Amino acid sequence: MTETTPSTLSFDAWDELQTPPPAVTDFDRVVEAALSRRGFLGGILAMGSAAAAMGSLGALMSSTSAEAQTAAQTAGQGAGQGGRFAFKPVAIATDGTVHVPEGYTWKVLARWGDPLFSSAAPFSHETGGEAASADQVFGENTDGMELFLIGNRQVIAVNHEYVNPEINLPKTDKGTPASAEDVMKLQKLQGVTVMEVAEGENGWSIVVDSPFNRRITHLTPMKISGPAAGSDLLKTEADPTGTQSLGTFNNCGAGKTPWGTYLTCEENFNGYFGTTDAAFKLPDDYKRYGIVAETRYAYEKFDPRFDVAKNPNEPRRAGYVVEIDPSDASSTPVKRTALGRIKHENAAVVIARDGRVVVYMGDDERGEFLYKYVSNDVYVPGGDTSKLLDEGVLSVARFSDDGTGEWLALTPETTGMAADEIAVFTRQAASKVGATTMDRPEWVAVNPVAIEAYCCLTNNTRRGEVKDGKMRTNAGGDEMTVNAVNPREKNQYGQIVRWYPDQEDHAGTAFRWDLFLMAGNPVVHKDSAYAGSPNINEGNMFNSPDGMMFDTTGLLWIQTDGEDTNEGDFAGQGNNQMLAGDPVTGRIERFLTGPKGSEVTGLTWSADRRTLFVGIQHPDAPFPDGEGKLPRSSVIAIKRQDNALVG
Ligand code: FEO
Ligand code: CA
Ligand code: CA
Ligand code: CA
Repeated sequence: MTETTPSTLSFDAWDELQTPPPAVTDFDRVVEAALSRRGFLGGILAMGSAAAAMGSLGALMSSTSAEAQTAAQTAGQGAGQGGRFAFKPVAIATDGTVHVPEGYTWKVLARWGDPLFSSAAPFSHETGGEAASADQVFGENTDGMELFLIGNRQVIAVNHEYVNPEINLPKTDKGTPASAEDVMKLQKLQGVTVMEVAEGENGWSIVVDSPFNRRITHLTPMKISGPAAGSDLLKTEADPTGTQSLGTFNNCGAGKTPWGTYLTCEENFNGYFGTTDAAFKLPDDYKRYGIVAETRYAYEKFDPRFDVAKNPNEPRRAGYVVEIDPSDASSTPVKRTALGRIKHENAAVVIARDGRVVVYMGDDERGEFLYKYVSNDVYVPGGDTSKLLDEGVLSVARFSDDGTGEWLALTPETTGMAADEIAVFTRQAASKVGATTMDRPEWVAVNPVAIEAYCCLTNNTRRGEVKDGKMRTNAGGDEMTVNAVNPREKNQYGQIVRWYPDQEDHAGTAFRWDLFLMAGNPVVHKDSAYAGSPNINEGNMFNSPDGMMFDTTGLLWIQTDGEDTNEGDFAGQGNNQMLAGDPVTGRIERFLTGPKGSEVTGLTWSADRRTLFVGIQHPDAPFPDGEGKLPRSSVIAIKRQDNALVG
């Protein structure tokens, strides 16, 4: 274990600390990049007047930004609700609990350790729960989620991204697993929960022992499908066919198909595979994905499947989108390799004009890319959907500085790689076609009432940084030069990019784009691009947009996973939070603040849209059980006191 593993550090942040991208580049490209900065972005990067900076960016900001600025400034001064926002914005908070607007209430629905089955041992703040029960309870670090209406039953599928060993194994020395049982407990606390929920007199609760209840963990059998199924790259001693694996890993964001299945997205899977064999030379492809010898969880010391010296293909069997049928607790989850192997954030599904299935996906790491999958066949309600996520074309985005962009197909012809290699070494394939390095693509959200999509680019403090005379790169050597879509050096705040598919066709190859917002701090940074875009003001500011989803009315809900020090560059921004954005006016208002230490991530709605479920990940104590108790990641249920719709 290393010193840099505070238990509540987000997995994204920890992974970046452990596997910093190397500074590899060539001098000529650095010069070229520097020259290009004098053009379009010169005004911003020279830190000139605010007017000059925003004038330069204006071409790529929403045409309604000026209007938005006026509205936002009014709201920021406390004018309260108005327009399409059915709430009075909340102020920042720095305390240990959740705050929602006046007229709204919140209550915990599920916490780490809450039983899904009556056979589970009760939760203990002394032990963090029993290892034997760890796959019969609500798991740790809640993240992406979706609600399914199955008959008249409401079933939530929700991810458990990672564990905080110091909290989950309180009897160990600083959370270092000391036995196979400790490791098994951690393995069972992660993955996915499927649970029936119901609303009674005392609010929402888990329906214990429902036939829909299920835990999917690091040990659950999975089927592998798509171009990499059966590939030599995926065969192991335990699975010589390369078609069956165990477990889904680091389940971050999510998605939902029109045919009623749940998509869980494997993000920082690299963190579970390592070796104690100092003589083992890590295969070359490991570097791009950050697979290193030493891990945070020590699985490799107690479970040989995770020792890459013994099973070098095992980490190549993770990093996928996994499809789960929440209506059948005995169904086998399917790893859909056609959607690529990256550090998947979420999977935003939309049906194109002609009926083909489109899935937008971010790869969350500094300088990695934004992807899109388009199925070959069309979706027919009630028809066979088993191949729609197996047979199609995966593409990667290139954003041009003139506000246009294109999707570059990853095929044997464009990459010189075989189909199974593209599915397993997707990052390397994308580097070959010249994709744009991005500021850590997190969730994508597709607007249900307009043909447009959004992606949170959470931050990238190495963007444009020159170290030892060389431009910073991603782990594949692609430079992170400042460009129009990632317009700020050492970007500590993040931005949200929006694209409009040409011919209003999500399946097409060309698009226009702009920036919906640039987060920033207009109090600390006056007169520079770090103040943020015009729709960011003292009253709504935040950093590091991450989770994001539209409601049925076309409001965009934005969740943050950033610095909550409330100091320096982040002074006045408080704890992580959830905001609502109006895509038409650009107006942004703060709806919720999370407890200190937490990330606000994951949201879905009850079938009647009168309850909004929100995830609170890795809070500090005392949330939610009070002082002296272990902190517990939780899903909360938010309602209006008048029981009106909440999206
Ligand atoms: Fe799991 Fe990139 O957030
Ligand atoms: Ca997280
Ligand atoms: Ca995230
Ligand atoms: Ca994040």
